[in-house]
Amino acid sequence: MSQIQIPRGTQDILPGDVELWQYIETKAKDVCRRYNYHEIRTPIFEHTDLFQRGVGDTTDIVQKEMYTFEDRGKRSLTLRPEGTAAVVRSFVEKKLYGNANQPTKLYYTGPMFRYERPQSGRMRQFIQFGVEALGSDDPALDAEVLALVMSIYGELGLKDIKLVINSLGDKTSRDDHRQALINHFKPSITEFCEDCQGRLEKNPLRILDCKKDREHQLMSTAPSILAYLNEESKAYFDKVKNYLDKIGIAYEVDPTLVRGLDYYNHTAFEVMAVGKGFGAITTLCGGGRYNGLVEEIGGPPTAGIGFAFSIERLIMALKAHQLELPFEQNIDCYLVSLGEQAKEKTVELLYRLRAAGIRADKDYLDKKMKAQFKAADRLKASYTVILGDDELAVNKINVKHMETGEQVEVAIDSLIDYMKTQLEGGKEL
Ligand code: HAM
Repeated sequence: MSQIQIPRGTQDILPGDVELWQYIETKAKDVCRRYNYHEIRTPIFEHTDLFQRGVGDTTDIVQKEMYTFEDRGKRSLTLRPEGTAAVVRSFVEKKLYGNANQPTKLYYTGPMFRYERPQSGRMRQFIQFGVEALGSDDPALDAEVLALVMSIYGELGLKDIKLVINSLGDKTSRDDHRQALINHFKPSITEFCEDCQGRLEKNPLRILDCKKDREHQLMSTAPSILAYLNEESKAYFDKVKNYLDKIGIAYEVDPTLVRGLDYYNHTAFEVMAVGKGFGAITTLCGGGRYNGLVEEIGGPPTAGIGFAFSIERLIMALKAHQLELPFEQNIDCYLVSLGEQAKEKTVELLYRLRAAGIRADKDYLDKKMKAQFKAADRLKASYTVILGDDELAVNKINVKHMETGEQVEVAIDSLIDYMKTQLEGGKEL
């Protein structure tokens, strides 16, 4: 029988690697807590309509990349391709806008699904960590959200990155720019790919993001959004930049930065990897303002801003920079036994050690004593606790500090307290 393999574009995260993921998640959550953002968990699948309306009908995501299926009740459901639409749906449905504490500041993490062509840094299932702040259009909040993502990256030690920002302006600015783009591309649109031809009237901004027509000469001469920003939009963008300057966050303005999702206005941004040794995909994180999205999903007019990054790409960047993170993979103690009665006793001791909060393990393969010691070494146990039938008879047990090789004998009944004191104090024997 042929062996069943993992689906393309997905991965198993095995012990040994998962600790890095857990470390990153803990770090990101810790930064969020300091910024007073709270976790929200939404379902893995949603009604397909949500993404059609939220992410936008003309986006690649909705047109080509969604995992959409009909359930047994004939409803069209979709595995979430991103988190923002679902968070906004929940914000509207659960009336979070009615809470006294505004803006509503949320973070989330979990798997997202896109049917993309898999390559390094582009998966069909990937884990996003994202943040959404809803209920304020203060440019200081844009700066806060940007500071938050840069803090996460900074605290993980990532240095070779840059923050790239742009403004897509308000609705009037966008409409004017849209018309200018149509005028610019229309006379030569037949020279562009089929997707772009479809985008011309529906969403010409997306032409600028086309991977196939990137080299067309009309791309570099396309009208810049910055030239179409009205006074309010310009002033808004200036304030965001001013706050970033005040906090001391470096950024680059790139007027060609357009995002692949429809809901953005005003501030749009990406964090890019700039170091050598990084693959073709250099965007680590993307986000921006989406002031019309809550209304689009059926809620009251509410401003919003957020970002998301995938942990896969973050790990790629950490590895490209050869950054080692200080997560612990060892255990506190390994129980070695010699003889039948001693073995039985270790089962009970192991349970008691763990109940006392100590990371402990023992042999389950009836290994010889020497092999049990080897296992303790492999698991990087700080202590080995050794019990033989002879010691058991006199109620004693040996504790060996693996680093120094020192060994002491303690009464079995005081083992748990003894281990606790040793580990808490980090003391040698
Ligand atoms: P996005 O640019 O589509 O935006 O994705 C954000 C990030 O998710 C990317 O920068 C990348 O790190 C990661 N990502 C996307 N697709 C893949 C993939 N196929 N494989 C690995 N990683 C991937 C959004 O999703 C918006 N919801 C971000 C946002 C939040 N905007 C406002 N709030």
